[in-house]
Amino acid sequence: MPEAPAMHIDKGLDNTIIGESRKSFIDGQAGVLEYVGIDIDELARNSTFEEVVFLLWNDRLPTSSELESFEAELRLEYPLSQGVIEMIKGIPHEASPMHVLRTVVSGLALEDEECNDQSFESERRKAVRVLSKTPAIIAAFDRCRRGLEIVDPDPNLNIATNFLWMLNGEVPGEASARAIDVCLILHADHGINASTFAAMVTIATQSDMYSALTSAVGTLRGPLHGGANERVMNMLQSIGDLDDVEPFVMDSLKNKTKIMGFGHRVYKALDPRAKYLKTFAERIAEETGNTDLYVLSTRIQDIMDREVGAKGIYPNVDFYSATTYFSLGLAIDLFTPVFAMSRNAGWAAHSLEQHQDNRLIRPRCQYTGDHAVEYVPINER
Ligand code: CMC
Repeated sequence: MPEAPAMHIDKGLDNTIIGESRKSFIDGQAGVLEYVGIDIDELARNSTFEEVVFLLWNDRLPTSSELESFEAELRLEYPLSQGVIEMIKGIPHEASPMHVLRTVVSGLALEDEECNDQSFESERRKAVRVLSKTPAIIAAFDRCRRGLEIVDPDPNLNIATNFLWMLNGEVPGEASARAIDVCLILHADHGINASTFAAMVTIATQSDMYSALTSAVGTLRGPLHGGANERVMNMLQSIGDLDDVEPFVMDSLKNKTKIMGFGHRVYKALDPRAKYLKTFAERIAEETGNTDLYVLSTRIQDIMDREVGAKGIYPNVDFYSATTYFSLGLAIDLFTPVFAMSRNAGWAAHSLEQHQDNRLIRPRCQYTGDHAVEYVPINER
């Protein structure tokens, strides 16, 4: 019998490197994030979400003709089929949009003729479909629950602009569309975060891209992960007044209640996305008359810096994205779906990378239960 390898417990996998990747690099001590070696700040300033998706899926920037044909490929897949529209119309209006998104992404597989084709090219095409249709799914459900007609996607618009068009039924101003575009860039990938890991575990069983992305949506919605942005907004609304910030934060810290939008498993410095989003939140809040919200947020940050900054607890990506989305007029329960809209890029990038060099992901646990337990017949228990 081969000798069992030495094992150690790493709860939460904090100190486990699960493999190699060319997608994103995080330096948690210095607060650096790069996609395929390019600093996130540079991409937020100069790039578009579509270009970032190409970058993550091909490990290099596209030429202008490559970008043009990639955008055309994405736009062809914007529309939802009648079957999917009927599925969305049949969902109770009270449903949480993340449950809706998870269900409908899964439902897309039902009408895909190549659903069981596990070739790399087929899985990539499925990723294109999910990424392109996710904005339409979110917008269609939101309009249905508001009793409004569903707005068809416009193939002349980019993903960010098209999303706002389908949501509101009017073409957004350039500033709002660019704000969403930049948020999509900033959320597109982040190493082996929980939802990306869920997608990789799924694809590694030689399941399929729909199953991988469905697992990822379900994982993202938790408040310790992508669901935090909605909780940040709920928190800001529940505090309400600037004078109430200090007692709120101090009580939370005393009771060991987490302040949503702060802390990170990897960053022990300021999350570089938060730095960018803070500037953004300030500008958009000012333009839309939501300065109070921004000021409230900065007061929370000041107190947190003073109290727990030395422990490496700083705002993460979710903290200032909440104010940004709220100022842009998004319903609070659409914040996490917008995160998913973007993270589709990273989920698919890592799933395709896993697909190309696959090994079943199958960790072990330390059994702590009893052994040789007697089976007691049911009528004797
Ligand atoms: N507020 C107050 N204290 C905190 C916070 C927070 N948000 N985050 C961590 N701490 C404290 C925690 O109480 C603990 O203190 P002590 O050592 O005295 O017991 C210490 O920091 C370590 O915390 P942890 O929960 O063991 O650390 P972790 O690596 O498991 O936590 C985290 C990472 C993101 C789960 C956690 O910081 C958290 O729950 N934050 C709030 C939720 C949130 O904003 N999540 C979004 C994460 S970033 C975007 C994404 O990935 O989706």
